[in-house]
Amino acid sequence: MTNIAQPSIAPLITLGIESSCDETGIAIYHSTKGLLTHRLYSQVEMHAEYGGVVPELASRDHIKKLIPLIDKTIGDAKIQKSDINGIGYTAGPGLMGALLSGAAVARSLAFAWQIPAVAINHMEGHLLAPMLEEDKPDFPFICLLVSGGHTMLIRVDDIGQYKLLGETLDDAAGEAFDKTAKLLGLGYPGGPEVSKLALKSNTERYKFPRPMIDRPGLDMSFSGLKTFTRNTWLDAVQNQDNSEQTKAEICRAFEVAVADTLRIKCKRALEQENLNTLVVSGGVSANQEIRNRLDLLMQKRHGKTFYPRLEFCTDNGAMIAFAASKRLQAGESKNLNFACQPRWSLEELKAI
Ligand code: KG4
Ligand code: ZN
Repeated sequence: MTNIAQPSIAPLITLGIESSCDETGIAIYHSTKGLLTHRLYSQVEMHAEYGGVVPELASRDHIKKLIPLIDKTIGDAKIQKSDINGIGYTAGPGLMGALLSGAAVARSLAFAWQIPAVAINHMEGHLLAPMLEEDKPDFPFICLLVSGGHTMLIRVDDIGQYKLLGETLDDAAGEAFDKTAKLLGLGYPGGPEVSKLALKSNTERYKFPRPMIDRPGLDMSFSGLKTFTRNTWLDAVQNQDNSEQTKAEICRAFEVAVADTLRIKCKRALEQENLNTLVVSGGVSANQEIRNRLDLLMQKRHGKTFYPRLEFCTDNGAMIAFAASKRLQAGESKNLNFACQPRWSLEELKAI
């Protein structure tokens, strides 16, 4: 049950805990001084040998890492535990076991320290991450949220006022990058690997389709593009053309097709909503080709694009601490009963 109390005006020092997938992220956000400190422990190496995240291993590792990482982060911030007066934790969407690990630690600390705790939606964390930067977007804006599990276009009128304009009907953009990397025998996570290899391409030998651009609306689809990529690679292998250079050309064609599709859909969303501010966040927003194309689009429109700094594109505790700080300041907190939601739509969130 969510209680909305009177908005608080005293400075809040919020501990943020992120554990929705394969990263344990901890941060401390001060409501007037901003982000004090953050730490991240990535399980990427552990999951790499399986080519993707193994949920049970992820939960067990979060349990081991959470408390030591919280201790170190508090030490880095040069504050006492007793200075912390609010906690925010990711309660979904994500892997159930991983979410419960962070939620149980957060709720237990809140109970022991007698302070409020608030359940944060991971996608809201990503969406608000650019607001951790000095140059922040003003509301309203269009947000392109591109992560490993989601690809959405959202109209954002304020914190908690989210209207879903379009989303992927199948694979998320990040998922398509990851699957493409796996198919080509590259490492995990696939996005940075595909992009690194794409830089070695020096021709535009392949042109891949831009899915769903000829249909009206703002929904997207990336699974056909992934299949097109697979067929192109299998043809190349059959023709004994499976060199690193061919792989690089395929990575480039794939990356450009994703970037161009996102550009076309963003342009359409901005026109439809009559807005000229674009926020791009989530792991895939680290991609330079996508950034270049969206920046060019916004330059032509005399608008502006906002991104999180690179380390806050992918999962981190800072974005959770920030969202929690805003919600706690608005007086939102949860009682001791808690639940996590592997699926949790942004449109269900309360405006603050
Ligand atoms: O936001 P995130 O850390 O986790 C989720 O909430 O899903 O996003 C992870 C996704 C992965 O699919 C990863 O391959 C992708 O972001 N990613 C990238 C890049 N860096 C991370 N995709 C394309 N280019 C990148 N540079
Ligand atoms: Zn994420």
